[in-house]
Amino acid sequence: MTLTVERLSLRGEGITADGVTVPLALPGEEVTGEIVEGRITAPRIVTPVPDRVRAPCPHFARCGGCALQHASDDFVAAWKVQVVARALAGQGLEAPMRPILTSPPASRRRAVLAGRRTKKGALVGFHARASDVIVPIPDCRLLHPDLMAALPACEEVTVLGGSRKGELGLTLTRSVDGVDLTVTQAKPADGPMLADLAVLAARHDLARLTWNGDTLATRRPPRQTMGRAHVMPPPGAFLQATEAGQAALTDAVRGALGDVPRVADLFAGCGTFALPLAETAQVHAVEGSAAMLAALDAGWRQAQGLKRVTTEARDLFRRPLMPDELKTFDAVVIDPPRAGAEAQVAQIAASPVPVVAMVSCNPVSFARDARVLTQAGFRLDWVQVVDQFRWSGHVELAARLSRGHIA
Ligand SMILES: C[S@@+](CC[C@H](N)C(=O)[O-])C[C@H]1O[C@@H](n2cnc3c(N)ncnc32)[C@H](O)[C@@H]1O
Repeated sequence: MTLTVERLSLRGEGITADGVTVPLALPGEEVTGEIVEGRITAPRIVTPVPDRVRAPCPHFARCGGCALQHASDDFVAAWKVQVVARALAGQGLEAPMRPILTSPPASRRRAVLAGRRTKKGALVGFHARASDVIVPIPDCRLLHPDLMAALPACEEVTVLGGSRKGELGLTLTRSVDGVDLTVTQAKPADGPMLADLAVLAARHDLARLTWNGDTLATRRPPRQTMGRAHVMPPPGAFLQATEAGQAALTDAVRGALGDVPRVADLFAGCGTFALPLAETAQVHAVEGSAAMLAALDAGWRQAQGLKRVTTEARDLFRRPLMPDELKTFDAVVIDPPRAGAEAQVAQIAASPVPVVAMVSCNPVSFARDARVLTQAGFRLDWVQVVDQFRWSGHVELAARLSRGHIA
């Protein structure tokens, strides 16, 4: 039986009219294949569409690290912008959409890989699509070359700390000073293993090695550049996925706010936006993780010539900044996790804040939160989609909302 793919899911997989999931297929394509539990795992594409291209990566057929290498760049760009426009339309909103900014191949600077011991050594890579099988990625087109160069270190770590039953988590982050490797679900490191790991970190020139939450070696502080400041995030901490993505989002946020003197940066992380904004504004950075704020504060103290940055550790889901607190700021930056910022946005709506720069990795919660603000008199001035999750279904965006006399 031939089925026609109608649309893509938010994971970038094809969906037919009757809801069958068809990975590796594009809208308009006719496909055949065995349907198991609503999914054709190995579809045969009967009639390809012109947007289909040859995947650049040899691992793409199996590897779950990417979902959309079979689609042209133009198709993916248009689809990601459309995902955001549709989410907004679902809330009765529309906005001028700026041209998408896509990160180049081989620029992902942070990745979470899986590792498992084998009879012969170790298997390290991404999971296969919709599976827990690990696919090795020696020719990956997504990761930055510095992360690729750390794959042998990950294999050795897996031989030392992994098992044939369980799976290691390997978070690789590229820093100014080398790769920062955070290992989780590993065997406890004691005695000779600690010595072996120290030797491994030196031999592979890792900047830092963290093991089940304990930092075993900091050979060089793994710094990230945020504006003119250098920050050393805690192991495994959130960081925008590519340098180009961080730059595009920072430009968008800066452009959204203009030259305002006092800014609140909510869900501030380690200071991705707070520190560049401190070139021209006093910034109050609020975030749930005290460790991330400590890193931000240390980075600010070491940088020369920035305006004042204050920090506050606070759960913004339970204790959002209230209108009385918000009224002291000329603008707010808000960059919540996937769930969005329902409680905080309700307080911004009730406050006199005139400009909000929203950054989001979830178009659905973004549209819901944007609606609350528009109902309180904000205009959605523009949306900038930033594709730092190249070849995946993920969408990142920045947007400007404003009200009152400020254009
Ligand atoms: C998408 S990240 C953005 C971080 C930062 N703006 C950046 O660009 O690097 C979301 C941040 O929200 C923080 N977070 C998650 N839940 C929170 C909560 N309930 N209250 C405050 N911060 C929270 C996370 O620790 C994380 O740093």
